[in-house]
Amino acid sequence: MNKQFLESDDDGLLIRDAGEWVENKLYFLSQYLHRFIVSMSEKQWRAINYIDLFSGPGKNRLPNGKILKGSPLIAISQEKTFDKYFFSDIDLENIETLKKRCATFLEYGKISFQVGDANIVVEEVAQTIEKENQVYIPNTWTSLNLAFLDPHGLELNWHTVERLAQLRTDMIIYYPQMGISREAPREINISPQTPIDNFFGDTHWRDIYCQHLSVGTSLHRPLLDYYKSKLKAFGYQVDDPLDEPVFKNSKDAPLYRLLFVCKSSLGNKFWKDVTRKMANGQMKLL
Ligand SMILES: C[S@@+](CC[C@H](N)C(=O)[O-])C[C@H]1O[C@@H](n2cnc3c(N)ncnc32)[C@H](O)[C@@H]1O
Repeated sequence: MNKQFLESDDDGLLIRDAGEWVENKLYFLSQYLHRFIVSMSEKQWRAINYIDLFSGPGKNRLPNGKILKGSPLIAISQEKTFDKYFFSDIDLENIETLKKRCATFLEYGKISFQVGDANIVVEEVAQTIEKENQVYIPNTWTSLNLAFLDPHGLELNWHTVERLAQLRTDMIIYYPQMGISREAPREINISPQTPIDNFFGDTHWRDIYCQHLSVGTSLHRPLLDYYKSKLKAFGYQVDDPLDEPVFKNSKDAPLYRLLFVCKSSLGNKFWKDVTRKMANGQMKLL
């Protein structure tokens, strides 16, 4: 078995080419997971699960050649393990590669791998967790789940977020800022359901977009607030806009934001702490 599989090294397997901004994204995830698993596993949860529906192959290569563990390897590298890991990706080769890498993980049996569209796979994941919770007295002693939802663009549908929200799930959600800015002028002229409709789960974004065009109001702040208001309906604490780190490309154009949602003030405090500083130690840019 190749020991390099779980390290930030070139192990000869498929590595995803990534932009330099990915370093901060994975740094925030890694810092958050560390705090989360250390503190939450001491609490009274039936189980603590990690869900990664856009897992990739497990490693990323930055433009400068540096290799970074991807989100699933970061999750299994924590000093305390989760009870279950749900990894899936639409790309078969990514999952085959990830399986090989994870084979050296001592608790490999805790991992479920699936190939498929996240917006379909989510139902099976949710049902598996619900069944396990029902072995105990329903609704009294439940699992706590953490989902990292990290697509390339507009592939994450609202119904997937909604399904996970029905479980007790903290989420780190990719908000596709550039994808929305780029696609909205075209999609506004197309009848529902477009990818942006699917992302928001309805067509209200169109009203916000039209207001933005006619009165010159900003676009993403009201869109983000609307998305978060939908999450609030599930009991998430989502009030602080400063904790949505923005990731920019080399031309300083905003690509995406990460939205963090959870129902506990401790989780929110952790996220605020970890996103304050970037991977190079500098204070984050808003
Ligand atoms: C940004 S990458 C994920 C990177 C990964 N989180 C990491 O840290 O290395 C997005 C992944 O989503 C996958 N993907 C794209 N559309 C998808 C879909 N509809 N369902 C599931 N996976 C999808 C791609 O194959 C790609 O591996």
